[in-house]
Amino acid sequence: MRDAAPTTIYLKDYAPFGYLVDEISLTFDLAPNATRVHSRIAFRPNPDATDRTFFLHGEQLSLISARIDDQPVEPEVTEKGLTCKVPDGPFTWETEVEIDPSGNTALEGLYMSNGMYCTQCEAEGFRKITYYPDRPDVMGVFSVRINGDLPVLLSNGNPVDSGEGFAEWHDPWPKPAYLFALVAGDLVAHSDRFTTVSGRDVALNLYVRPGDEGKCAFGMEALKKSMKWDEDVYGREYDLDVFNIVAVDDFNMGAMENKGLNIFNSSAVLASPETSTDANFERIEAIIAHEYFHNWTGNRITCRDWFQLCLKEGLTVFRDAQFTADMRSAAVKRIEDVIDLRARQFPEDNGPLAHPVRPESFQEINNFYTATVYEKGAEVIGILKRLVGDRAYAEALDLYFARHDGQACTIEDWLAVFEEVTGRDLSQFKRWYSDAGTPRVSVQEDWDGSTYTLTLSQQTPPTPGQPDKPPRVIPVAVGLLGPNGDELRPTEMLELTEARQSFRFDGLPSKPVPSILREFSAPVILDRDSPTSERAFLLAHDTDPFNRWEAGRSLARDTVLAMAVDGAAPNASYLDGIHAVLRDDTLDPAYRALMAGLPGQSELAGTLHERGITPDPMAIYQACEDLRQALAETCRDMLPRLHADTRVDAPYAPDAEQSGKRALAGTALALITRLDGGELAAEEYAAADNMTLQLTALAALLHAGKGETQLSQFHDQWRDDRLVMDKWFGLQVSMAKPDRAAQVAQALTQHADFNWKNPNRFRAVMGALATNHAGFHHASGAAYALLADWLIRLDPVNPQTTARMFTAFQTWRRYDADRQALIAAQLDRIAATPDLSPDSTEMIARIRG
Ligand code: ARG
Ligand code: ZN
Repeated sequence: MRDAAPTTIYLKDYAPFGYLVDEISLTFDLAPNATRVHSRIAFRPNPDATDRTFFLHGEQLSLISARIDDQPVEPEVTEKGLTCKVPDGPFTWETEVEIDPSGNTALEGLYMSNGMYCTQCEAEGFRKITYYPDRPDVMGVFSVRINGDLPVLLSNGNPVDSGEGFAEWHDPWPKPAYLFALVAGDLVAHSDRFTTVSGRDVALNLYVRPGDEGKCAFGMEALKKSMKWDEDVYGREYDLDVFNIVAVDDFNMGAMENKGLNIFNSSAVLASPETSTDANFERIEAIIAHEYFHNWTGNRITCRDWFQLCLKEGLTVFRDAQFTADMRSAAVKRIEDVIDLRARQFPEDNGPLAHPVRPESFQEINNFYTATVYEKGAEVIGILKRLVGDRAYAEALDLYFARHDGQACTIEDWLAVFEEVTGRDLSQFKRWYSDAGTPRVSVQEDWDGSTYTLTLSQQTPPTPGQPDKPPRVIPVAVGLLGPNGDELRPTEMLELTEARQSFRFDGLPSKPVPSILREFSAPVILDRDSPTSERAFLLAHDTDPFNRWEAGRSLARDTVLAMAVDGAAPNASYLDGIHAVLRDDTLDPAYRALMAGLPGQSELAGTLHERGITPDPMAIYQACEDLRQALAETCRDMLPRLHADTRVDAPYAPDAEQSGKRALAGTALALITRLDGGELAAEEYAAADNMTLQLTALAALLHAGKGETQLSQFHDQWRDDRLVMDKWFGLQVSMAKPDRAAQVAQALTQHADFNWKNPNRFRAVMGALATNHAGFHHASGAAYALLADWLIRLDPVNPQTTARMFTAFQTWRRYDADRQALIAAQLDRIAATPDLSPDSTEMIARIRG
């Protein structure tokens, strides 16, 4: 059954609910097709509300009975919820409903995954469990009883009682319904303990399916590190007797911070050296930290409404990035984050899906769990911290926690603590929350013999619904270097607040080379046509590791674009510069590996589009290939040594040091494979004793057009491991040549192991197709059609995962008329599908514009 016409919800219409919840007790009688949920809720009128309409959300529920103060009542029920006449004062509300977890393929609410019951309630899934004011500003104390014949029965908070076929839980911390969780299944625990700074002894459990016990140790260590870090750095202590994590195979997102019972996509928590890559380990550590950190930034202080999503997500992403920087290398983490931002957020912010970090309207909130809300939301916190300084940031956070603990808050509450601590007016800064779009900052230089003047201008292009963009405050970190690479001026934070503004540096001995936007001090596009020689100089000398990388990056970008557009030859400054970096053993291997990478092809297409040139995906692809080949030739003599020197002899550890070495060895192997046709890669594959090496070697072979044998060996070796099989599916699509990508993906969708209802498997194939830039945009349009076929098929089953995949089409206006017509035809075909979900309907409408 489908919803009627989608409705748009506006931030400006916010009004509190007419009733408060003091307590809620839930009893679940589990059965796969017919679970009974009994709820008993203590309501009382909300003194801060004027509207006393008693409306409870509820979807896909069969109402069995309803009572008020023990008397049967007959509420008016619709597809969206119910209304009922209620007493003037406090009252007890009770319902019994029946739900169908096994038929729940949308993976929202209570559903089943491999025989296990689990929940996902953020953002609006609780309404599929029982009738309730399913909004984050209604917070209640939950007690839960689960009746079910399964060994493990979990919910939020502390365990109260359990026995044969039942368990009871009580969560003393009032919470919104989106943080409710329940898990029941045949699970095994990997257990540990943590003692908090004030001496609370916390039982830690990571619950997994039997067989996955060997993949728990790393996640558990990451959890303990996170708990300690949040105490040390933010003064935040854990507040229950237990902290449980459960790994689930079928999950729409990465993980969920339910109070005391985090539920994770198994890909975001299970790890072992044999089955996980170094990148997987790093991501898992970050996600465990992220969900744990939500306990304070999200759970103890939550969001008033879903427009405030960035209040918890931006801040928590910012915190998990700080954690990763502390655990690993700060420079490497910053570079990785900027690569990711440019790959996912910039296209969003510069296309039809652009929206403010705090949106002002939406139809389906699930469509706003975006790179803008999360990653740009975190960048905005970084800007704020740069503007007020570390000390004021720490004070403001202390005040935020002290003042708002237990509340459902807004961005205004967040900004107020900073204004109070610093006395600074943050109204201009607030535009980062209200105005969509990526600012372009351009630079003009003047030198009069002793004074150097930098004139910075800012301009933000229009975005949907926002034609005019007033200037915002942009922290621009600048350092000045002398001719031999000495720092003439250390990093200074310039505050660009006007549309155009000049900054003077007096008394310099010689004309400096500026290093601008150090550390990527704000998420902007720096428009600067500096000479190649200057970028080569910064690549060799910049004292800011981010900008040194950025110098190499911009050289790479310009050389590859000149090759793609004008048929230019590879730029020698770039090749020599990277050659010098690769052989410089004083540099961190991870950093060297990042320096040797090329910008993504989609990002390059975006840059051309910004410059008014229609990108040709095939030409970009070919230019990248040619440039890599030229780099391999340039480095020919040093590559074998580089590969040998980066070999790790110690037992596998997923730490920054070893993974950096493996990354650089992988870079060397990929380049060598361009010269030896895959001989070394085949040896490496045969000798690999961890997934990082195995997958790197396999990728190199596939790129060289080899690897058929290894691919089937890999399948035989890993056929029973879902997470590794996702890699097997994904790698073939991402390594496929442009003219074969759609065909390879299509063939894989016919494979017996292609379980398309599993989001990880679906994304492994379709996500890889969408990010194989030249393959996806192949002139035949075959990939567009294939993706559209599968989106049409998945939509009725799982609208959330379907809708997220539409971002593949968000850049369509960049490309030539033929490609635009092909994409438009597919979008129209999808839009014409009967009963298309509101999720997908909204995405298509926004992308079509
Ligand atoms: N709050 C979760 C996290 O970022 C994400 C959950 C998103 N769920 C959803 N259905 N959109 O940690
Ligand atoms: Zn989060």
